Amino acid sequence: MDSTNTSLPHRNELAEVLEYVVKQATDYLRNLDNRPVRSQKAEEAAAAFNASLPEEGGGAASTLRSLIEKGLDAAVHSAGPNFFHFVVGGTTPAALGADWITSLLDQMAYAWVASPLAVQLELVSLSWLRDLFRLSASWAGIMTTGATMANFVGLAAARQWWGEQHGTNVAEQGLAGLPKIPVLTSGYIHASAIKALAMLGIGRSAVQTFSADTSGRLDLKGMEAALSRLDGSSAMIIGNAGEVNAGEFDPIGPLADLAEKYGAWLHVDGAFGLFARVSPRTAHLTEGVERAHSVTVDGHKWLNVPYDCGFGFVSDPAVLGRAFAYTAAYLPDPDDPHPNMGSLGPESSRRARSLAVWATLCAYGRQGYRTMVEQHLMLAQRMAQLVDEAPDLERLAHVPLNIVCFRYNPGGFSDGDLDQLNRRLGEAILKDGRVYAGTTLYKNQVALRPAIVNWRTTESDVDLFIEVVRELGAKLSQEFKNEKNKDATI
Ligand SMILES: Cc1ncc(COP(=O)(O)O)c(C=O)c1O
Repeated sequence: MDSTNTSLPHRNELAEVLEYVVKQATDYLRNLDNRPVRSQKAEEAAAAFNASLPEEGGGAASTLRSLIEKGLDAAVHSAGPNFFHFVVGGTTPAALGADWITSLLDQMAYAWVASPLAVQLELVSLSWLRDLFRLSASWAGIMTTGATMANFVGLAAARQWWGEQHGTNVAEQGLAGLPKIPVLTSGYIHASAIKALAMLGIGRSAVQTFSADTSGRLDLKGMEAALSRLDGSSAMIIGNAGEVNAGEFDPIGPLADLAEKYGAWLHVDGAFGLFARVSPRTAHLTEGVERAHSVTVDGHKWLNVPYDCGFGFVSDPAVLGRAFAYTAAYLPDPDDPHPNMGSLGPESSRRARSLAVWATLCAYGRQGYRTMVEQHLMLAQRMAQLVDEAPDLERLAHVPLNIVCFRYNPGGFSDGDLDQLNRRLGEAILKDGRVYAGTTLYKNQVALRPAIVNWRTTESDVDLFIEVVRELGAKLSQEFKNEKNKDATI
């Protein structure tokens, strides 16, 4: 066989490939703080990848060159400090290095036999996270692709528990013949929890939201009244520790009281909000989470590990085991005393996400994460202050955590026009690319909702964000006024 045939992988490509990637990565990371989040050429750069499958491959070196040359413009540089859209963390140096090692070792984190390293680090990391978030050491945990699947894990355990309350092993029998499962929550519920309910066959329409106002804030009395009407039949409650519009929290302690009183399962989605527990300044926001039955946290948000990574925690390991149990003749025996992560979550073959999680926790520890969270709390307050001081910006919510909800409002616009203006502003920010943030609907008003979760973000990035918003806002509001004047004169 010709070892230089470029159509086949061969060992002597590796040195060149690794050297090239290290050089590119070093340059990229050195310049990342100053790089626009998105290039003006992103659309055409992405389109440049349109091509048919090559008959003869071009080899690794030239392929990777082309990936970097075309790819950097097509990428969104969300690992940089000026990305405030969604809730997207960066990647700490330790996590990045460990993630490279993950690909190097290409471990399959299914079970002990597949990789003692991956499984051991998953178990150690999950126990460190339970410690960091002050959840009981007796809880089970599993790494997932993110909070959507962590919600799926927690709610799958809840479904299993609920079925057993009705004398049915749902994992065996399915849900057929059982009544609809009542799922009670506030208007803060994240779309992914509803999606998880859809995937679990519980159904989106099972969700009953109890909101006291248009922000979605929990109507606790309304929820209690509904629970009391169930006459002792069990239910699921979803508590939201950190919602995406303003970083608000449901009162988790009172929800835990309701769960206890009415015998309900309490699942808490703390995708990013659980990090409030890391600082004594914000820990009160999540008081009561330790009394939940299942809890969701994300890794690729505030932990700052690379995509993808999340964590599902369940207080009763046995119920989790019953929800996800499976086996086959060629797989480890269910009685094998070694850990089997595939039997605790939805995936069988799994990326060894644990290497990056373990590395970042090991490298920076409890104090490192506390300092980072507090830095972000401080930056969010700084942004809120800049908003308050600017005559053309209007803050719409208080800032309990790391999200600042506000809109551009230079005065003289109706509410409807302000919505249009802010929608245009959201689009213009993304197109401009120097910073990145999107819009939402908060209390029926179109608003910006920058979220701060990246270890690289500093005061100057927050200042730049507000500067760009005001610059684009001024330009768009002038254009908007001109349009209106023109319409009025036609
Ligand atoms: C509160 C909350 N829950 C769940 C999710 C879904 O997380 P993921 O995208 O990691 O699946 C998010 C994402 O923003 C979130 O903020």
